Formats: sequence, structure tokens, C-alpha cells
Amino acid sequence: MTRPRLSRKPALVRLLSVAAVFSIILIAIQSSFFTGSWTPVNLDILILSHFQSNLQQCVANRGLGLTAHIIDHCNVILKFPQGTNSTWYNEQFKIFEPLEYKYDVCEAILLWEQYRNMTTVLTREYLDSRPDGWFDYAAKRIAQLGADKCYNQTLCEEHLNLTLPAKPPFHPRQFRRCAVVGNSGDLLKTQFGEEIDSHDAVIRDNEAPVNEKYAKHVGLKRDFRLVVRGAAGNMIKILNGSDDEVLIIKSVIHRDFNAMIKKIRNPVYLFQGIVLRRGAKGTGMKSIELALSMCDIVDIYGFTVDPGYTEWTRYFSTPRKGHNPLQGRAYYQLLECLGVIRIHSPMRAKRKQDWSDVPSREMINNAHRAALRLKKKQAGEEGGLGQFVNCKVWGKSGPYGTGPVSGSTDMTDTRKDSNYNRWEIMPFESLRMEARKHYMQMEGVSLYKMDGNKLDDLVCMKHPLKSEA
Ligand SMILES: *[C@@H]1O[C@H](CO)[C@@H](O)[C@H](O)[C@H]1NC(C)=O
Ligand SMILES: *[C@@H]1O[C@H](CO)[C@@H](O)[C@H](O)[C@H]1NC(C)=O
Ligand SMILES: *[C@@H]1O[C@H](CO)[C@@H](O)[C@H](O)[C@H]1NC(C)=O
Ligand SMILES: *[C@@H]1O[C@H](CO)[C@@H](O)[C@H](O)[C@H]1NC(C)=O
Ligand SMILES: *[C@@H]1O[C@H](CO)[C@@H](O)[C@H](O)[C@H]1NC(C)=O
Repeated sequence: MTRPRLSRKPALVRLLSVAAVFSIILIAIQSSFFTGSWTPVNLDILILSHFQSNLQQCVANRGLGLTAHIIDHCNVILKFPQGTNSTWYNEQFKIFEPLEYKYDVCEAILLWEQYRNMTTVLTREYLDSRPDGWFDYAAKRIAQLGADKCYNQTLCEEHLNLTLPAKPPFHPRQFRRCAVVGNSGDLLKTQFGEEIDSHDAVIRDNEAPVNEKYAKHVGLKRDFRLVVRGAAGNMIKILNGSDDEVLIIKSVIHRDFNAMIKKIRNPVYLFQGIVLRRGAKGTGMKSIELALSMCDIVDIYGFTVDPGYTEWTRYFSTPRKGHNPLQGRAYYQLLECLGVIRIHSPMRAKRKQDWSDVPSREMINNAHRAALRLKKKQAGEEGGLGQFVNCKVWGKSGPYGTGPVSGSTDMTDTRKDSNYNRWEIMPFESLRMEARKHYMQMEGVSLYKMDGNKLDDLVCMKHPLKSEA
């Protein structure tokens, strides 16, 4: 059918991108002839153009028909093949899904690389240091407060204390390989169970069941689970006695949740960045953000990423509507070719695990530096581009692993011997070597987002290093 066209296209595409890089070199040389210098801007554009052509090749190889069309060194359009069924009607926007999606790759690299160094769990030190952290931000995380601000901080603490650790309970680079398991019905077409369980940590979503019935498809290992408000009711049934699984609430805390938490021994926290991202719908992105903030490699399973979907199905329940398969599929493919995630799905199940066309760590680091330099140049900002370049607010906190643990003022007997302390008071020495190294390189600083997806506004918390403590 379309096979021959597919295999010929990449060659042509490669040729075109080589030509593009060449013409950029020419322009760069010409302009440096006139200005008398080979400016770093030209070099950065070259690096990014090279990255783009790599991305284009990666999409051609892995995109199951998707193609990448380069606009300039930052912008790219991902296109579905002509004739793709776009009869999916989006209720929200009252349109049929488009077949083309434009992305700013420079922004995407900056955003997703930043997650690798980020803390994504809400902590007391964050609320204490963020401007109006308690008054303003904390109030947004509490349902049933009856006010839009915390006029009475004690009252807000009462709502949050059960889920609020003093310091980040998890750390960048804490795990090497993580599996993020979505809920898609396509999980039933494969037997990824053992492969999923072989990861250092497994992240699941909401009410996705884990039991013998589905074990060969989704595995049995459970480490993290992102949940939304409303899940509190049947959470105890879902957990089914699994005390270790960490719950991370990605919306707001409310009375029902707190009542439920007091009855279980699981660690429970609030996710810190809650604003939904443009460009990718659904809850999957939060799980990927959480995973990236702790793991080197993020493998995703059970996301609807293969062509041919006409409805949104879940592996444990009947199909329902309300998803944007094409938009999500294009964005996940972009993320795979930016080296953020690795996609596992039925149509890719039989392939050898070959990631050679995904950009290397070194290539991503180079592209990241180039994108950052260009961005700062465009904003007219000079000066250092170190790891704290985006720190807007600084705060100071006590040494690693000290301070009150979550729930300490409202410990029910069940929670007193709960498993929160496994993470919250873990000695620095028992952290994975890469995580310790990162902590030292970051000089003991934890990075938090201030608002949504704004790249430039970080809250940076300095913890004394061992020797200074
Ligand atoms: C603040 O909230 C606490 C706890 O609910 C309550 O005991 C206290 O009276 C409140 N303070 C004021 C000034 O309303
Ligand atoms: C919340 O926890 C902190 C730290 O353990 C404690 O200092 C504070 O008094 C607690 N607040 C309430 C209202 O229980
Ligand atoms: C709970 O776990 C047990 C095994 O530990 C299993 O037999 C049972 O089916 C599970 N229940 C649910 C509702 O998944
Ligand atoms: C496209 O999807 C619609 C809605 O699910 C379906 O009715 C139609 O048969 C599909 N068309 C093709 C060509 O696959
Ligand atoms: C992330 O952390 C590493 C140290 O592990 C540092 O070299 C790098 O500059 C940081 N990157 C960002 C985007 O913060």
C-alpha cells in the first residue's frame, strides 16, 4: 500500500534537510564576511538546524506515517498522511481534529529538559518561600475552603498538613528507568506486564486496577499513582492493601481525601504544577512530568499513540468519548524524538528496542544550550547561563532530610507507622549515586515552578550541603 512511499520519503527528506543546513552555513559565512565575525548566534542556529533534521529523520522512522516539516531552526509542523481519518469531533472546540500540528522545538526542549531538574511535589518550604505561597497559592489547592485566599493560615495548614512534607520527598535522578502506564484499551493487545515490572519505578493513573486479571498486560509493580479529586471514594478499593504505593493528588485536597488518607498507610502528596499544558490534552502529561523529575529514562505504555483510533477506550472499562487522539499522538511523537519519552504500543511491540535514531544525551544538551542562548539573546539578556538562570525567587531551608514530616501534627494511629518516612527521611547516602551527584552539582538547590508552564519563573530553595550543615 503506502509502504514504498514511506521508505522513499525519508531519503528525500534527509536530502532536503542537508540542503537546508548547507544554505544556513552559507548564509552564516556570508553574514560573518560582512560583519567580520562568526557570531555565536549563527552557530546556535546551526546546532538547532542540525537537531531539527535529526528530529525529522526520527519522526520519519518512528512516526507510523507522521512526517515533520521544518519551518526554521525552531519551528516544525507534524503532519498526518493525507486521508487520515479525522472524523473525530472535538466537543470542546467544535471542530474536527486537524491533521497538522505546529511546534516550537526550542521551547519544547527548554521546557522538558527543565523537568529533569525539577521538584514536582508540593512542600512546606515552597509555600513558605513563594511570594504569597500560603495566602494565595495554598488556597487554590484546597477545595471547600469557602474563600479564595487563606485569610487564616492555621485553617489552611489544617487542610494541607496531612499531605505536606517539609522538603522534597523525591529527587531528580532518583531512579534510572521508570514506566508510566496509561489506561488505554490497547494494553490488552500486548503483554507488556513483565517488561513494565522490570522498571525501577512504575507510575500509574487514577483508578487503573493492578491485579492478577490484568497482570500480563499491565504488570503488578506499583510505586506511584497520580489521582484526581473524586477518586478518594474508591481509592481504598483500588489500593487493595498495597501500602507502599505513593499517591500524588494532581488536583485539590478536600475533606473526603483527608478523611480517606487517615485510614491508609500510603504516603500521599500533592502535585505541584497543576496548570494543564497547551498542545497535549489529558492527564498523561502530568505523569510524564512527575516521571521526568525523578527518572533518567521514561518508558510510556498504554497511551493511545498508534494510528487508527476512533474512540477512547480503557483497559478495564467500557469505551467512552472525549479525547483528542491525533493531537496527543503528534505531541507524544514529538516528545519521543526530543528524547523525553520512549513509546511502547501494539504497533511498535514487535520492533527491536532500537533507540539509535532518538537524539543522544549529548545532542540534546547541545541543542538545549543553543536554545537557551538564543532565547536570552532575543530577550536582550546578557550574563551567565548557569543552572540557576531561571531562578526568580530564592529561599533557604534546613539541611537535607530534616524538618517535620507530612502529617506530623495529625497522626492517626494508622498513619504513625505509615510508609511516608521511607521517602521523607531517607538518608542522603542511600540515594542513587546519580541523584547524589546531581544534588552536589546543584549545590543543594531544589527548583520548583512558580506558575504553570512559565519557563522563567522558578522558586529555588537552597539546602545546606552536608559539609556546611
Ligand atoms: C483560624 O482557624 C482556626 C482553625 O480552624 C480556628 O481555631 C481559629 O479560630 C481561626 N482564627 C480566626 C481569627 O478566625
Ligand atoms: C502543620 O504542621 C506544622 C509542621 O509539623 C506545624 O508546625 C503546624 O502547627 C501544623 N498546623 C496545624 C494547623 O496543625
Ligand atoms: C486484591 O488483591 C488480592 C490479592 O492480593 C486479589 O485476590 C483480589 O482480587 C484483589 N481485589 C481487587 C478488587 O482487585
Ligand atoms: C473514520 O471514523 C469514523 C468514526 O469512527 C468511521 O465511522 C469511519 O468508518 C472511518 N472511516 C475510515 C475510512 O476509516
Ligand atoms: C540540570 O542539572 C544539571 C546537573 O545535574 C545541570 O548541569 C544542568 O545545567 C541543569 N539543567 C537545567 C535546565 O536546569
